[in-house]
Amino acid sequence: MIKASTAGFIFLITLAVPQATFAGPEEDRRAFVAYFETRFPDVPFAEFANGIYAIDQNARDQWLDIEEFPPYEFAVEQGASLWQEKFPDGKGYTDCFKHSENGIRQRYPQFDDQAGEVITLELAINRCREKHGQERLEYGGENMLALTAFIAFESRGNPFNIKVPADEPRALAAYDAGKQFYYSKRGQLNFSCADCHVVSAGQYVRADRLSAGLGHPTHFPVYRSKLGALVSLHQRFAGCIRDVRAKPFELQSTEYRNLEYFLTYMSNGLEVNGPGARK
Ligand code: HEC
Repeated sequence: MIKASTAGFIFLITLAVPQATFAGPEEDRRAFVAYFETRFPDVPFAEFANGIYAIDQNARDQWLDIEEFPPYEFAVEQGASLWQEKFPDGKGYTDCFKHSENGIRQRYPQFDDQAGEVITLELAINRCREKHGQERLEYGGENMLALTAFIAFESRGNPFNIKVPADEPRALAAYDAGKQFYYSKRGQLNFSCADCHVVSAGQYVRADRLSAGLGHPTHFPVYRSKLGALVSLHQRFAGCIRDVRAKPFELQSTEYRNLEYFLTYMSNGLEVNGPGARK
């Protein structure tokens, strides 16, 4: 999508970018939100959950047309029947996901102190399956995407509430690793996520206008009309990493899970609005 020669299209704006904070997650989050609220004073906080549609009226109009016949509807229906699956031992997903009636999506990712790692929704689904004698679903595969689309749909309207427990240094370390990843330059173009989605949010990279990093995870999985298919958040990460000519990581790698942990924490308080629809 981006050629090395287009790197110059991105104009760096010298505003106080919230990366110099060495404070805890909550201070980071407040600084992250305040930055975007200053940059986009006309955009209400809740609107950041809509990505580029929060700041680009043209794109928003097209999107509202698309949403009249949601292209992810079929996947949600497919996910609803997958959710009913009974495992060989007679159990099902509701045995793993307690209080699922209150929505699930807003609780993930979580830090699991037994496993000592970040557990995303996709990982939790596969752990559930393995525990009950079922094969894992492929990450980025149709069934995993449909199931997570259904879960997101059922969780719509619930505010994200990601926790980095203060008494768990490994959770903070995972969060910090994700934060580090977000602000590190990579690839032949030498761009960090923040260069595009924080510093240059609202600017154009060729025909694409850059969305704000605030609210990025809220609407996944996302149906991409360009691909005619749903993509997961990690597939999106991989796409952006490829675009800067760097080597992507495996879906559900520790790197991506930590990145998701940081990025979703930044979106705490925004509502789940997945699945989404994008170009
Ligand atoms: C060279 C600029 C650039 C860099 C660097 C970049 N992205 Fe993107 N990203 C884009 C463009 C362009 C899009 C599509 C338009 C949009 O929604 O911003 C996009 C889209 C996304 C989306 C989907 C937004 C939505 O609303 O669905 C996510 C999530 C995302 N990027 C995350 C990242 C992360 C995480 C990194 C760092 C690993 C990163 N990006 C690095 C340019 C970039």
